[in-house]
Amino acid sequence: MTATPAPSTPGSTVPLRIAVLASGRGSNLQALIDAQRDGTLAVEIVLVASDKPHAPALQRATEAGLATQGLDPKRYLDRASFDAALFDAVASSQPDLIVLAGFMRILDPAVLAPWVGRIVNIHPSLLPKHRGLHTHRRAIEAGDTMHGASVHYVTAELDGGPVIAQAAIPVESGDTPESLAMRLLDEEHRLLVASIALLATGRISLQGPTVLCDATPLTAPLQLDANGSLRREPA
Ligand code: GRF
Repeated sequence: MTATPAPSTPGSTVPLRIAVLASGRGSNLQALIDAQRDGTLAVEIVLVASDKPHAPALQRATEAGLATQGLDPKRYLDRASFDAALFDAVASSQPDLIVLAGFMRILDPAVLAPWVGRIVNIHPSLLPKHRGLHTHRRAIEAGDTMHGASVHYVTAELDGGPVIAQAAIPVESGDTPESLAMRLLDEEHRLLVASIALLATGRISLQGPTVLCDATPLTAPLQLDANGSLRREPA
């Protein structure tokens, strides 16, 4: 396996250039925008792109004065040509890192390949549990006592790439998919911001299938603590 360069160099003072892809309401995007604005996240959001030209996420980006690109898949012959057009637009913005924040499409592996190691996703489950859709309902139906969210590197395997970090919450008796999703959302926002902060300072990288944190392999995903910091699990 070849080593994938870290998107940022440790100690660098240049903000990480990120492109965010979002299909829906954009609350995770908003968390990144807010953290960038209040100085807790050293990134420059160079583009917000969507497969839904009327997505609220694009509206949030416009209100924040960010560059946007909305492409409609119906205008393309097939999935591969849409993905190629989308990623051409993304590449033009010259990001160091692509962040999928509620981006609800499976990407063409050929389009994805050049970006592996420089593209991450936030998924609302404790991966490897509950890949795909309806994660909150499936966690309740499975009788899980804990649920959560994961930030992971994106590979051709749906929600199957190496996991960087997770936030966990208890499933409470009487939880519905909606109540669980709502409680998790705040944690998702904190998890995404904390994970991108580590990537932005060059402390996280991917080497083959292994996530490195401070140049040391992770044997388990980092865990979000009550202060919003990411920690290694105690050995
Ligand atoms: C989040 O739950 C995220 O984990 C999932 O899609 C949802 C997007 O929410 N991938 P938002 O658009 O960021 O509000």
